Amino acid sequence: MKSRRSFIQKSLLSSLMLAPFSRKVTGMGISSESFIEKPISKPQVISTWNHGIAANDKAWEILSTNGNILDAVEEGVKVTEIDKSVFSVGLNGIPDREGIVTLDASIMKGDGSCGAVAFVRQVKHPITLARKVMEKTPHVLLVGEGARQFALQEGMPLEEEVLSLKARKAYNEWKIKAKYQPIINVENHDTIGMIGIDAAGEMAGSCTTSGLGYKMHGRVGDSPIIGAGLFVDGEVGAATATGLGEDVIRICGAFLIVELMRQGRTPQEACEEAVKRAVAKSKDVNNIQIGFLALNKEGAFGAFSIQPGFNYAHHNSNRQALVDSKSWF
Ligand code: GLY
Repeated sequence: MKSRRSFIQKSLLSSLMLAPFSRKVTGMGISSESFIEKPISKPQVISTWNHGIAANDKAWEILSTNGNILDAVEEGVKVTEIDKSVFSVGLNGIPDREGIVTLDASIMKGDGSCGAVAFVRQVKHPITLARKVMEKTPHVLLVGEGARQFALQEGMPLEEEVLSLKARKAYNEWKIKAKYQPIINVENHDTIGMIGIDAAGEMAGSCTTSGLGYKMHGRVGDSPIIGAGLFVDGEVGAATATGLGEDVIRICGAFLIVELMRQGRTPQEACEEAVKRAVAKSKDVNNIQIGFLALNKEGAFGAFSIQPGFNYAHHNSNRQALVDSKSWF
């Protein structure tokens, strides 16, 4: 078993390796903020990890021209879904044990409308498919072949199933031992979750991932599970998660955070309480990572993770920044 030290070192290194954008960002990002609880401004958008910078830039193009938050969170994460340097979101992602990339995504509005897809293959933009589930069907979640058929029906062409070069290399190396060890870190996993608020005060969120690398075929994580990887209630706020989905699902992470905010906790306090619960339930806390982001309807936000190394991108009218989250360890 890896020591926590080597886990953290690996996480930090991987985070650097994955950093595709250096503009306005130095090192691992600015350290955790003391003003995090203060309402900053509307509109604003917050996304997990450093790939959130480019996603936020796209979302900001929409928000800064009075666009709506639903379009912003969809268009934002679409950037990550086709980013060839990201191996944990979209079709460039690390495959499952069978060498197949399967994708999960969800989208939610402040009025409770939501849609999701899980275990879907060959779809370039699962977040768009999730939005179509929300807007064009009476359902919330479509999975597997049904989701793929729905994509075709909606005129979304299916992509050829070819692993990216890096994913193929990683998979071939993994196959030598083929050990089933669902340990998560930023090297094999870093979902993008994005939450935001527009100038009109409307809130929405999106979450999209290729899931845990080398997962069992058919495994679905927290990202497409409304209330686990994503939850938005426009009366209160929004939350999203990254990390080991099983441990996020067990505590209904995003829903828990929004409910804690409803009861009066700040976004930061709510994220910390959710991590505390995940830690209490985890069987192997030294070897897993979970990161949460929360935003309330006043525009205050917070973030917290189990391990150091989690960061998030924040964009409002004053700044575009990558910030290191505070963590349990
Ligand atoms: N957090 C995403 C997953 O576990 O698949």
